[in-house]
Amino acid sequence: MAKKVSITLLPLNQSFEVAKDSQLHDILFSYGVEFPCGGHARCRGCRIRIKEGHLPITDSQKNILDDKELNEGWRLACEGRVQDDLIIELDQWKSDVLSDDSDFQFSPMHGFGVAIDLGTTTLAAQLVNRETGEVLAIETAINPQAKYGSDIMTRIDAASRLVKQNEMQLLIRSKINDMIIDLFHSSNENISRLKRIIIVGNAVMHNIFCGIDVEPMGYHPFEPVSNDLELYTPSELRWDLNEDVTIEFLPGVGSFIGSDILIGVWAKKIIESDGIKVLVDLGTNGEIMVGNKDKFLAASTAAGPAFEGAGISMGMRAATGAISTVMTRNGEIIPKVLGSEKARGICGSGLVDAISAYLDDGSIKADGRFLNGESIMVMDPVVITQKDIRELQLAKGAIATGIRLLLKEFNAEEKDVSEVYLSGAFGNYISKRSARRIGLLNFPQKKITTAGNTALLGAKMALFNKSKINNFYEIREKTTHLDLSMHPDFTDIFAELVNFPIKREMV
Ligand code: FES
Repeated sequence: MAKKVSITLLPLNQSFEVAKDSQLHDILFSYGVEFPCGGHARCRGCRIRIKEGHLPITDSQKNILDDKELNEGWRLACEGRVQDDLIIELDQWKSDVLSDDSDFQFSPMHGFGVAIDLGTTTLAAQLVNRETGEVLAIETAINPQAKYGSDIMTRIDAASRLVKQNEMQLLIRSKINDMIIDLFHSSNENISRLKRIIIVGNAVMHNIFCGIDVEPMGYHPFEPVSNDLELYTPSELRWDLNEDVTIEFLPGVGSFIGSDILIGVWAKKIIESDGIKVLVDLGTNGEIMVGNKDKFLAASTAAGPAFEGAGISMGMRAATGAISTVMTRNGEIIPKVLGSEKARGICGSGLVDAISAYLDDGSIKADGRFLNGESIMVMDPVVITQKDIRELQLAKGAIATGIRLLLKEFNAEEKDVSEVYLSGAFGNYISKRSARRIGLLNFPQKKITTAGNTALLGAKMALFNKSKINNFYEIREKTTHLDLSMHPDFTDIFAELVNFPIKREMV
């Protein structure tokens, strides 16, 4: 029998056993680690740090990592075979998770509350003093379910086909419990003052947390068994909190329209607006809501992963080493890398900027093809390929088509919209100019507002007076979900919007 060795992953703090001589690449891939150059030891994107144990240094690693890095324990995960017990720090997980620091109105209440945005990729929690409205502590983390796949469909697949839903539920419940405890530790506050916890998330995250079978969400019409309000006591979740704490997972409208986007619409007070407003949440999934005081329409697309770097040959999350912005100055294209590191990949905002810049200088044509060659080097060693551009075109085409179709159902066009809120991790970092240049958002720049993490903002506002949240339920009642793929105009509009616009006036 093959000898076993143990591996611990930081900062996930997960330990497991594998057979000695296993490929580290295969092991880490199943934990959601990305290999931007496909594991060819070219990009540094899979850098790991060996905190304990020994991972041999190969020739390829000597070529790509300098002596100082090697001495400090840095290695490439795509090159390693496991010989010893290892404790490994994953460089990729050192990414920023979008929190919220917006001002909001509230009526003071007794005790503390915790707001939680349970995202497919990331988790964000805030401890709020309900007497003052002050945010006392923030905790962010990678969703530990990431090891079952980075996007929603692979998560559903793992839950149903591999019968892992119970495991995923335990993982997320225990992670959120830890985050709540950490909020009180870091703020030095007494946990007995906690009175209310509000959790929001998309329908799949809701169903996994609540123990509702997600399998029906894996096939058409992608409807959950239920996406209703779920109430818990701490003991029901096995959370070590006072039993008088109320825990609410807010409801969505079904399909992929969850409480995260609904509460964002509520927080931005779109229900009080005469004019039509749009909220686009660009995270791992792309969700869109269009509405005013009378009605709401919602749609979702699986466009998000491309914007997060998934499916892009050297794509990665917005973490250290990612090209995150690309500017043009005096005709020169200037990429900027996150952290003081060599470039090792490109994240969504960098990709959108880069394509926008190459459209402007004519290196990329409106149909997405390169003027010359099959790829462009943005910054050594990061290249964009023809396939990458195609992926981005499909993603932005799907979002732009979703917006156009929802407006059409509203008997409106882009020019009739009074304001567009861009929320979610990717939405927060993308340049509005570049989003317009590539045809993702076909609105005047002055109408586009970057709104941060509207899901967390809404969850925080919901911690206060219960009657205030009544119109959240009114929004839910007034929302109709539109299945984009079944719309008779989808194909024609998508075919039009998948191309890049001819250079437009940047107002
Ligand atoms: S994936 Fe290992 S160096 Fe690129």
